[in-house]
Amino acid sequence: MSKKILLDVKNLKLYFRTRSGSVQAVDDVSFRLEAGKTLAVVGESGCGKTSLAKAILRLLPRNISTYSGSIIFDGEDIMKYSDEKFRREIRWSNIAMVPQASMNSLNPVMRIEDQLIEPLLLHDRHMSKKKALDRVNEVFNIVGLPTDFLRRYPFELSGGMRQRATIAMALASNPKLVVLDEPSSALDLLTQANLMNVLKKIKHEFNTTFILITHDIGTASELADEIAVMYAGEMVEFSSADYFYTDAHHPYSRKLMASVPTLREDKELQFIPGQPPSLINPPQGCRYSARCEKRFEKCSMHPKTTELEHGAQVKCWLYDETGEVKHA
Ligand SMILES: Nc1ncnc2c1ncn2[C@@H]1O[C@H](COP(=O)(O)OP(=O)(O)O)[C@@H](O)[C@H]1O
Ligand SMILES: [Mg+2]
Repeated sequence: MSKKILLDVKNLKLYFRTRSGSVQAVDDVSFRLEAGKTLAVVGESGCGKTSLAKAILRLLPRNISTYSGSIIFDGEDIMKYSDEKFRREIRWSNIAMVPQASMNSLNPVMRIEDQLIEPLLLHDRHMSKKKALDRVNEVFNIVGLPTDFLRRYPFELSGGMRQRATIAMALASNPKLVVLDEPSSALDLLTQANLMNVLKKIKHEFNTTFILITHDIGTASELADEIAVMYAGEMVEFSSADYFYTDAHHPYSRKLMASVPTLREDKELQFIPGQPPSLINPPQGCRYSARCEKRFEKCSMHPKTTELEHGAQVKCWLYDETGEVKHA
């Protein structure tokens, strides 16, 4: 059976205009995601993960200076859609997003139920209130919340429950792709684990395609089929999760892996000294090179993307076109 590519992003750029110059938040990012798979996007804070999500959903602030590339979704280049068509046919109905800190963005003076049916009624003028309520009950079940909580106000729910409610809201339209921006980072460990189980269940039962944004590579491992590592606005590695967790390639990815505590090994945790460069006039060469222990002469030039075996991609001069390590 041929694999269906749901999302094919090519040379995506999103730059913001500021007084000090242009912020290259998403710089020439390309990747493909198969239907039914989960892609985890990982990397330190400020590396452009949220900006990548916003670029895909066309949720753009006013101060954009560059927004280009192509986004083929389900066979169509949605970058070419007008804003109106994008709003009508793509955002929420086909690609839904659970924004960062969304559990705190529910309207405090509105019952959960009313907040959940609102987008359904707005997007489909023929939908009856009864049908919308049925669907909302259904998605509440899917995320494992008791349906009598629908009549409650947000403050009557715990943080973890509110987070599930926002996920239910995103699922209500039965979207093909759901983008979750740091869905569990504000939750305690147990609630995080429960949420990951809910997402796993949804993934398996409904074959939903997810993009899971997280700065926590441990959380990512729960759900991810593919891993994308962002560094300073660029996607420096893209790999299947199995392959990544046993053999990450980019020196930055390896450092991220070494910073995750594991139950099995009693290893010394590493942290990555230094910080990512400014995204205004970032270095000409490899953006990671200033922090990289493996840097050599070539790193003063901008690395191109190398395809490795298993279809993994890495942006690092240590690997040549054949995927062989040249300077490790
Ligand atoms: N509207 C904006 N205007 C200017 N800079 C922005 C804007 N939004 C985000 N940025 C900058 O873009 C970079 C990437 O941010 P973001 O995508 O939020 O990273 P992450 O989600 O990985 O933490 C950061 O340097 C951030 O300050
Ligand atoms: Mg973010």
